[in-house]
Amino acid sequence: MNKILSIKNLSISFRVFNQTYKVLDDVSFSIDRGECIAIVGESGSGKSTLGKALLGLNPLATTIIEDGGIYYQGTNLLKLDQSSLRAYRGKEISMIFQDPLTSLNPTMRVGNQVLESFLKHHPQITKEVAKRKVIELFNWIGIHNPEERFYHYPHQFSGGMRQRVVIAIALAPNPKILIADEPTSALDPTIQIQILDLLKKIQTDLKMSIILITHDLSIVSRFTSRTIVMYAGTILEDGPSETLLQEPSHPYTQKLLKSIPRLGLNKRDRLIPIIGSPPSILHPISGCPFHPRCDQALDICKKERPNMNTKNSACWL
Ligand SMILES: Nc1ncnc2c1ncn2[C@@H]1O[C@H](COP(=O)(O)OP(=O)(O)OP(=O)(O)O)[C@@H](O)[C@H]1O
Ligand code: SF4
Ligand SMILES: [Mg+2]
Repeated sequence: MNKILSIKNLSISFRVFNQTYKVLDDVSFSIDRGECIAIVGESGSGKSTLGKALLGLNPLATTIIEDGGIYYQGTNLLKLDQSSLRAYRGKEISMIFQDPLTSLNPTMRVGNQVLESFLKHHPQITKEVAKRKVIELFNWIGIHNPEERFYHYPHQFSGGMRQRVVIAIALAPNPKILIADEPTSALDPTIQIQILDLLKKIQTDLKMSIILITHDLSIVSRFTSRTIVMYAGTILEDGPSETLLQEPSHPYTQKLLKSIPRLGLNKRDRLIPIIGSPPSILHPISGCPFHPRCDQALDICKKERPNMNTKNSACWL
């Protein structure tokens, strides 16, 4: 496998009322062609900001790129102007946004919404051919009666089917990387599994790289090979999903695992919530950002930020 996307030392701040607040701090990771990775973290840890940064979709007026680069097949996307970046959006890297309802236009037939996404990136194809492709795509992603469903509006679809339409919009340009931001969080457990299975099919059949963003560590083992754990805008641990779930190295990942229901737990295993709240960008924390909630904290943890150790875990232990 070879790298398709590398994020190097990315730091981003948001400007709010003339103050700047760091939201991503020295984030580095890469993804191979056809690889599927998960980015996991509690609410506010910067997952969506990171996903949007890969497409330059954070608000232009208030976002400050402090440092770093986002290299797509060697090109630093942060150096491109908006019109050059537009050529990458959708066609090379596509994103399923966190809220599927706001991603769809309620007044437009779903087929036309996917058709629009398809034609934008394949202007040479006639509308008739494009429509056939959209119907094939609907069929492929599990929307039954696709010819009929093409003409329906979003409110005529269930939550799971709406999410399939959103996925179809993201797939229509045939991107190389798909970013899926909390694609299952609004769905009930059975539908969640169906959507995760669809993402797995996209990865295996279309050989697409997938970045799955989620707060739910219990779903990552289903098909991701690597998991990156984020906290307060930084990466605390990065490792093979199986190892990370069985022998987490970072104290935060260990606590996160003990706090969620997942397969393999015995009836006697109690869920232990993590005491305290995740930090806010308004109140940055010195040293290791997890130290106020960590029961193994040393003196140095409060003063100096740990680098990644040999186990790919940012911890002084
Ligand atoms: N446009 C913005 N301006 C100012 N602050 C923002 C903006 N967007 C996000 N934030 C703040 O940045 C931090 C990270 O937000 P982000 O949405 O990336 O987190 P997340 O990990 O995706 O959370 P969730 O799991 O709730 O979706 C939060 O504190 C959020 O309030
Ligand atoms: S660096 Fe210190 S505070 Fe942070 S997780 Fe490790 S032991 Fe805990
Ligand atoms: Mg988010």
